[in-house]
Amino acid sequence: SEADLIAIIEGVKARMGSRLFLPAHHYQKDEVVQFADATGDSLQLAQVAKQMTEAEYTVFCGVHFMAETADMLTDASHTVVLPDMRAGCSMADMANDTQTERAFTILTERFGESILPLTYVNSTAAIKAFVGRHGGATVTSSNAVQMVEWALAERDILFFLPDQHLGRNTAHALGIPLEQMAIWDPIKDELVFDGEDQDVRVILWKGHCSVHEKFTVGQIDQFRKTDPERKILVHPECSHEVVTASDLNGSTAYIIQQIERAAPGTKWAIGTEMNLVNRLATTHPELDIVSLNPFMCPCLTMNRIDLPHLAWALEQVEAGEPVNIITVDAETTRYAVLALERMLARS
Ligand code: 13P
Ligand code: SF4
Repeated sequence: SEADLIAIIEGVKARMGSRLFLPAHHYQKDEVVQFADATGDSLQLAQVAKQMTEAEYTVFCGVHFMAETADMLTDASHTVVLPDMRAGCSMADMANDTQTERAFTILTERFGESILPLTYVNSTAAIKAFVGRHGGATVTSSNAVQMVEWALAERDILFFLPDQHLGRNTAHALGIPLEQMAIWDPIKDELVFDGEDQDVRVILWKGHCSVHEKFTVGQIDQFRKTDPERKILVHPECSHEVVTASDLNGSTAYIIQQIERAAPGTKWAIGTEMNLVNRLATTHPELDIVSLNPFMCPCLTMNRIDLPHLAWALEQVEAGEPVNIITVDAETTRYAVLALERMLARS
């Protein structure tokens, strides 16, 4: 029963004490978040790596790429566990290293050497290593503006992986017109661009988040008509049209901060993952908070982590027989950490 699972988790946590660290992303279920030693957006969860290293085990409540990053940023003796290996990310799966190497070769032949790759942290360790090897860095939704600004000052062209929307929204916020952005289609190995080659400033990998693509301008228009006072707050993984039509956009940490600062009685429609929207609505009864998409938008892979998987993973850890250990090989780690450190130094 749920009570038994809770008792198991509480028991392991109490007995293991500081030997165990349990971070949870803001999109995790409440049933998991209640046990978290730290919650955060992707940047904050990378920044707590030092706290992870002080423990023997990290049981990561998030998705696979986050656990990989935790493994790479902690000592080799530290063990990172993902309670369910099926907790992946469809966006991270949209770019593999073979496709990326091929794209970079083709693009370098066409545009010359002055291309700097940046990857959203929502990518595999192999992609982070590719970017690190080529002088680039990782970005998260909370430092994308600083990182894109840095990249455009370093080289003529920015190659942004794997989320076209975060790349487009960020470059546009920095004053790059849409006409100077091209799209790389990794399935067709094709660059989609209407203008002249010399005008390209940003090349966007054709990837997206399957959760955030469910928010539309039509939903925003509906609220503008029926409920014009309601503020629209979205994540920058939403399309450019949605971000442009919204009132505010930012990372999950930014969304939480806006809600915490909101005046009592104000109305909000939030365009991000359902668990976070529901948690904000419950913890802020003084506000009127709804999802921008009336059918809500769950991230099915984030939701793989639940009480049964967490209890099972923790029992195995305590027994000294951890399951679902996430390890990134030394060569990949070396270059991926270069990319991560270039970001952490600027965040
Ligand atoms: P942030 O928490 O960094 O905003 O990331 C959102 C996300 O989609 C994580 O998978
Ligand atoms: Fe990936 Fe989107 Fe889920 Fe985040 S919300 S883990 S980007 S699928």
